[in-house]
Amino acid sequence: MKVYWNGAVVDEEAVRLSFDDRGFLFADGVYEVVHVYRRQFFEWERHMARLQRSLAGIDLEGVDIAALSLGANSLLESFGADEGALYLEITRGAYPRSHAFPPQGTPPTVLMWIRPAPAPDLRAWEQGVAVMTAADDRWAKVWIKTIGLLPNVLAKEKAHRRGLFDAIFVRDGMVTEATSANVFIVRGGELVTAPVTNYILPGITREVLIEIARERHMPLTLLPFSADDMLQADEVFLSGTTTEVLPVTQVDGAVIGSGQAGPVTRELSQALRQRAGAVS
Ligand code: PDD
Repeated sequence: MKVYWNGAVVDEEAVRLSFDDRGFLFADGVYEVVHVYRRQFFEWERHMARLQRSLAGIDLEGVDIAALSLGANSLLESFGADEGALYLEITRGAYPRSHAFPPQGTPPTVLMWIRPAPAPDLRAWEQGVAVMTAADDRWAKVWIKTIGLLPNVLAKEKAHRRGLFDAIFVRDGMVTEATSANVFIVRGGELVTAPVTNYILPGITREVLIEIARERHMPLTLLPFSADDMLQADEVFLSGTTTEVLPVTQVDGAVIGSGQAGPVTRELSQALRQRAGAVS
């Protein structure tokens, strides 16, 4: 596989990551995941804008976004499938372990690759997925897309060990988001998702869905909602770059709505794939 590594597209075997890399030592880095539909990036500029906010959020300077974009495009040229996902990670570079930042001029480590998307799980899509709620014990800067994802990893694993698809984080009784996706509910015909705060990652898919809903004059409110609101909702779904729109039909063992993907979820899912120019 070809990867982009510190300014050049190389064979993956050529990558030599230092054990002094601050990503390895401190999770001192940020990342992005961008969906590739029909050999094109979906919402590239928005992902780059969020990346710049994340970089500023951890005071990481010296990253050339224009060069990244060129690199991503050359990766795309050698990508063999129609649909996939680009992963991009930037860390504060390699330097002998010390909590303080390395000296100015230490080059960041930049890595990108594109992998084909796994085949969609149609059964999960039709029947929806079952999830659990979990205490949101993450830090207070969730808006930064940091590679420090241990709470997310532990919550996802806990869900998997119970035979569930995912965990939805709840902070002070209110739903924040899932381990790698945002959460929407539908109640009384109205679409509801929490407004962005520092406790939620501002998802690009979430933003696009809000735009689609507005274009279609679907009733929409940006309002915090509780775990109880979610249990009583007519529909619940997750949104994210790799998740796209995914119906949730069970939360903590309780069936949501009809127990099937609901009409609003279906409409938004289709609209999203249409807008992305996806094959189906
Ligand atoms: N995750 N919330 C969290 C915690 C996420 O990690 C993600 C994305 C989202 C959805 O954001 P977007 O729509 O921009 O993908 C929300 C990526 C896909 C991941 O970690 O793999």
